[in-house]
Formats: sequence, C-alpha cells, structure tokens
Amino acid sequence: MVSHDLLRVLTFGLLAVGRVRSVQLSNYAQQMSNEAMGFLDQIYDCDAGYLNYFYYPLAAGPHETRSSVWYATGLLQRNRGNDVEEAVKIITNVIHGQEKNTSVQWYGDYTVYPEQPTVGTAAYPPVIYNSWDPNWRGFIGTNLIVIYEEFSHLLPANVQELILESLHNNTIGDSYRVGGIDGDNLRPAYSNAWLMRTVATSWTGLKLKNSNMTQAGNADATQFLDLFNLNGTLSEFGGPTYAGVSLYALTIAAKYLPASTVIGQHAARVIQEIWDYESSLWNANLRNFAGPWDRSYGYDMNKYVAIMSEWIWALIGKDGVWKQKSPIYTMTHADDFEYAPLIAVLSTFHKTLVSKATIQKLTTFAGEHTYTGHAYAPPADYEPRNISTWLSANLTIGTDSFNQSVVGGYSEDSTSFSPSVVQWLRPDGSVGYFNLYPTETALKASVTPYALNLEYPLGNSSSTFTFVLASNPLGAARDISSFGDVDGLTIAVSGGSVNPVPEISFCGLVGGSCNIIHEFEFWNVTFSMPADSTEIPSISFKFAF
Ligand SMILES: *[C@@H]1O[C@H](CO)[C@@H](O)[C@H](O)[C@H]1NC(C)=O
Ligand SMILES: *[C@@H]1O[C@H](CO)[C@@H](O)[C@H](O)[C@H]1NC(C)=O
Ligand SMILES: *[C@@H]1O[C@H](CO)[C@@H](O)[C@H](O)[C@H]1NC(C)=O
Ligand SMILES: *[C@@H]1O[C@H](CO)[C@@H](O)[C@H](O)[C@H]1NC(C)=O
Ligand SMILES: *[C@@H]1O[C@H](CO)[C@@H](O)[C@H](O)[C@H]1NC(C)=O
Ligand SMILES: *[C@@H]1O[C@H](CO)[C@@H](O)[C@H](O)[C@H]1NC(C)=O
Ligand SMILES: *[C@@H]1O[C@H](CO)[C@@H](O)[C@H](O)[C@H]1NC(C)=O
Ligand SMILES: *[C@@H]1O[C@H](CO)[C@@H](O)[C@H](O)[C@H]1NC(C)=O
Ligand SMILES: *[C@@H]1O[C@H](CO)[C@@H](O)[C@H](O)[C@H]1NC(C)=O
Repeated sequence: MVSHDLLRVLTFGLLAVGRVRSVQLSNYAQQMSNEAMGFLDQIYDCDAGYLNYFYYPLAAGPHETRSSVWYATGLLQRNRGNDVEEAVKIITNVIHGQEKNTSVQWYGDYTVYPEQPTVGTAAYPPVIYNSWDPNWRGFIGTNLIVIYEEFSHLLPANVQELILESLHNNTIGDSYRVGGIDGDNLRPAYSNAWLMRTVATSWTGLKLKNSNMTQAGNADATQFLDLFNLNGTLSEFGGPTYAGVSLYALTIAAKYLPASTVIGQHAARVIQEIWDYESSLWNANLRNFAGPWDRSYGYDMNKYVAIMSEWIWALIGKDGVWKQKSPIYTMTHADDFEYAPLIAVLSTFHKTLVSKATIQKLTTFAGEHTYTGHAYAPPADYEPRNISTWLSANLTIGTDSFNQSVVGGYSEDSTSFSPSVVQWLRPDGSVGYFNLYPTETALKASVTPYALNLEYPLGNSSSTFTFVLASNPLGAARDISSFGDVDGLTIAVSGGSVNPVPEISFCGLVGGSCNIIHEFEFWNVTFSMPADSTEIPSISFKFAF
C-alpha cells in the first residue's frame, strides 16, 4: 500500500512537473491550441505516425510531413496520455525520411508526404516547389529547434541527438540554395524563407560549434537587415500569410539566439517594427489588413486562414480575427490552421515584444489615417515601391507604385500579388473587395480619401486594367452588369484615359468564363483603352457609401 501510494505520488509528481514545464499559454493561445489540436487529433493516423494529408483539393489517402511536425509540437505541449510517445514517433519518422544524398539539390530536405516516390527517379523528376519543396527545410528545421529548446526534457537522448543531426544536414542542404540558380529563388527579399534559413543556420552553427554555419547565418542576417532597415519593412510586404511566417522565424531568433548572432541581436526590434506597420494597416472593423499585399492567398481574411490571423488570435482572441462563426475547416486555406499549435507555443514569448499600442490598434480601429512607406524586393523591384494606404472605419484603399522586371511581383504570380486593394464593410457586416489584378510591370498609383488613381507608365493601347470584384452577399443582387449593382459601395470612374465602360465577366465556382483565384469566385471587371489611343493608360475612381 505504502509503496503503491508512493508510486502514485511520484508518478503524479512527475506528471505535474512535466505539465509545469510545458509553455505557459495565455487563455487565447490555449483556446487556439485546443481548437487546432481537437481537429488534428481527428486526422492523426497513429499507426503511421503521421497526420493525414489535409490540403485542397483533399488528397485520397496519403499522409503529410510538415503538418505532422507542427502537430508533434502540440502533442509535446499538451503532454497527456501517450502524446509524447506519438510526438517521438512523428519526429523520428520525419527525420528518417530526410534526404541523405549530399550531391542532390534537395539534400537534407524532408518529404512533402511520406508515400511520395523517391525524388530524382525517372518517374519522379526533381521539380522545385513541386516534387520537393526547398522551404520544407526551413519550416521543419525551425520547428525542430523549437521542439529541442522547449521539450528536450521529454525526449529520449537519442531523439535529441537525431534532431541535431537532422539540423546539421538540413543546414548544409539549405546552403545549396542560391537565388537564380537551378530554379531556386531564395534571395534576401524572399523574406519568410530567407529568415527561416538565417535562423536555422545561426542556431545550428552555435549548437554544433560550427563557425562556418554561424558565419553563414550572420551573413544572411546582415543581407536581410540591409533591406529591412531601408524603411522598417519586410521586402515581402503586407502578406497576411507570409508576414506571419517571418514573425515566426524572428520569434525563434529573439527567444533562443544570443546577441552574439546578428539575427539574435536584431530580431526583437524587427518584430516590433513589423507590428508597428502591420497594426497601422489592420482594420479591426473589417478584420483585414488593408492592402497592398505582395503575396496573399485570398481577398478577404474572414474567408481564409492566414498565419497572421493565428498571431492575432493568440494576442487578442478569436473574436478579433474572424467575423464568420463557421468551423475553421470550412474556410479556404484551412490547412494553415495546422500551424496553430506551434504559433501558440511561441506566442507567450512573442507577446512580450508586442507593444500596448499595437494590441490597442489590433483590438479597436484607431480612426481614419494614412500609412505611407516603402518596400524593396530586388531583383524584381528596379527601385523601392512606394506604398500608400488610406484607412477609414468602413473603407480602406491601399496601393503601391512599382517598377519591376516581371509581372506579378517577386514571386511572379498575379494571383497573389495585389498592388491595389479596396475593401469595404457591407450592410450585412461582410467585406467587399475590389482589387487590381496585375498585368503590367510598372504602376504609378496614388490614394486620397475615397479615391484611387492608377497609371501604367509603360503601357500602351493594348493595356487593360482588370479588377477582381467580390460577389455580392446573399440577399443582394446576384448579377453585376455595372457598378450600380455592387452592394454597399458606390464605385465611380472619375477619370483616366481608358474607355470608362468596363467589360464584366464572372469567374465562378462552377461556371462563368474564367477561373476562380485561391478558391475565391469574383466578377472580372476589365477596362480597355480606346482603339489607337496614344495616351498613357490610366484610370481614377471615386468611392462613396
Ligand atoms: C547521389 O546523387 C548523385 C547525383 O544524382 C548520384 O550520381 C549518386 O548515385 C547518388 N548516390 C547514391 C548513394 O544514391
Ligand atoms: C546526414 O547526412 C549524412 C550524409 O552526409 C548521412 O550519412 C546521415 O544519415 C544523414 N543523417 C540524417 C539524420 O539524415
Ligand atoms: C568550413 O568551410 C571551409 C571552406 O569552405 C571548409 O573547408 C570546411 O570543411 C568547413 N568546415 C565545416 C565544419 O563545415
Ligand atoms: C518610411 O518612409 C516614410 C515615407 O517616406 C517615412 O514617413 C517613414 O518615417 C519611414 N519609416 C522608417 C521606419 O524608415
Ligand atoms: C461604419 O459602419 C458601422 C456599421 O454599419 C456604422 O455604425 C458606422 O457609423 C460606420 N462608420 C462610418 C464612419 O461610416
Ligand atoms: C517613389 O517615390 C519617389 C519619390 O517621389 C520617386 O522618385 C520614385 O520614382 C517612386 N518609385 C516608384 C516605383 O514609383
Ligand atoms: C524602371 O526602372 C528602369 C531600370 O532602372 C528604368 O530604366 C525605367 O526608366 C524605370 N521605369 C519607370 C516607368 O520608372
Ligand atoms: C503594347 O506593348 C506590348 C508589350 O510591350 C506589345 O506586345 C504590344 O504589341 C503593344 N501594343 C501596341 C498597340 O503597341
Ligand atoms: C478578365 O477578363 C478579361 C476579358 O475581359 C480576360 O482577358 C482576362 O483574362 C480575365 N482575367 C482574369 C484574371 O480572369
């Protein structure tokens, strides 16, 4: 009896110690973690030791690698029942799948999904960002650092060693990445991916006492800061998804790296400066960051899961993030909710770097104001972009002027580069949007209250201005044949060299004449130039409620 009781006390005591040594989470972060873990528990396959693949369109069968590591973080944090065993199973599975051939470009990278054919075989050629994803080193490597730092006490010694070995290979393989070579595009302006490499390399160099790595990490950090410090902005500006990933990497640097590393020395300040401008661009009434957005996965943050939404949830609660109440897995890009357990673990420390003024601006709209700034993403940008965003309670207009070498911004993707964004609150509380779809390499744009002016300095009579216009909400007009049919906002062409009557078509979920973008259907409003015009293409709008 005595020994049984003693055992119970001991066991209980050990459990209690284990629980105390989890990261202390705020109520908001705990709620987010619980909601994510409740979902992930259901798609976890414990026989495989991987999560099932949850990515649109949903795959028939396979598991997924990266999200499994995010889930392992949540398991270690929760630490109930056999959570730790399952986390260990996932970590060892993922590392065993890591590429071991030092001569291939994807050395040290992890699989996208564990059943995939071997990359580099005849049937499965190496296609960057497809059959292999170079950023998986960054995502998984940085996550392994968090696991090592926070939860080593839960891991067997051999698993701790395995993590360090994995990070060693990961970092060597990541050093093969050179923007512009072999199809890679990793340069300092690719902020989120560059920062993940910077942080993983700096940390691993210190841990393994490998001064080559430490120096490489410092060199990366210096190149990042050279761009960031131009105007206190990420080159990858205003992306609701990727600003969140940059903050994630920087939080790891601020928390675990000493000031003897360049990124460790600067990360906290950079995080504060990012929040300074991001919070100025946040419209708490619309639950959206005003534009422009360099890379976004949708046109209204209430309808898709962005990583920034997870940071904001951890800071001010779920109600501050989304107007919609439907379960998160019904939103598009819901797979990014799989990141939430990891964001939650970092959020306690992250919050110590976020000012009261930022929290205030995230919580309550600060009143009408204009943000002006610059962002510079060479080599796509020939010169820094000029950003100008006007925010009012129920209408925001944000744009940038650019002169670039490619169409679609740094990532050459017109579906995610949104250089001019208008959003407004509609009578039913939902958010409307009217965004320029980029088709040119240069834009001169300006914003004043209730007005937007756009000009293509390199355009000609073949140029068109195409806008992505939101469908009206349920109950409002289903058909849009002119701006008069738009719900909740008066849009008027007030000038410019274009023919003021647009061609309007519908890009629908199951019909229409063009494709949806990031699962958003929309009206395509396209203005053309009068035939044989010799004027510089331009268009101006005035907006009113
Ligand atoms: C490693 O990759 C190189 C380049 O593709 C190849 O020639 C070599 O056979 C591979 N080595 C092993 C052990 O598979
Ligand atoms: C790391 O790479 C080496 C080859 O350089 C390989 O022998 C080893 O198994 C790899 N370790 C892991 C964990 O993949
Ligand atoms: C460091 O870099 C030098 C020069 O490239 C190389 O010779 C050496 O092997 C590297 N050392 C380690 C530990 O990677
Ligand atoms: C960025 O540029 C804007 C406009 O030129 C200026 O008002 C602002 O002070 C600059 N901010 C920083 C942090 O450099
Ligand atoms: C914004 O919309 C809300 C809700 O419809 C309304 O109460 C408020 O008066 C509007 N504010 C402005 C400045 O138009
Ligand atoms: C940004 O503004 C500066 C100063 O007005 C101007 O010289 C520069 O050409 C502008 N850049 C772009 C891309 O329009
Ligand atoms: C864009 O930049 C290029 C290269 O610097 C320059 O030649 C060109 O004049 C610029 N175009 C505009 C419209 O500013
Ligand atoms: C307008 O410019 C584009 C791209 O440079 C070119 O392909 C097109 O022929 C030009 N159209 C006219 C009417 O000059
Ligand atoms: C928008 O419609 C125009 C025709 O008016 C078409 O040429 C263009 O490809 C469409 N753009 C998108 C993004 O759907």
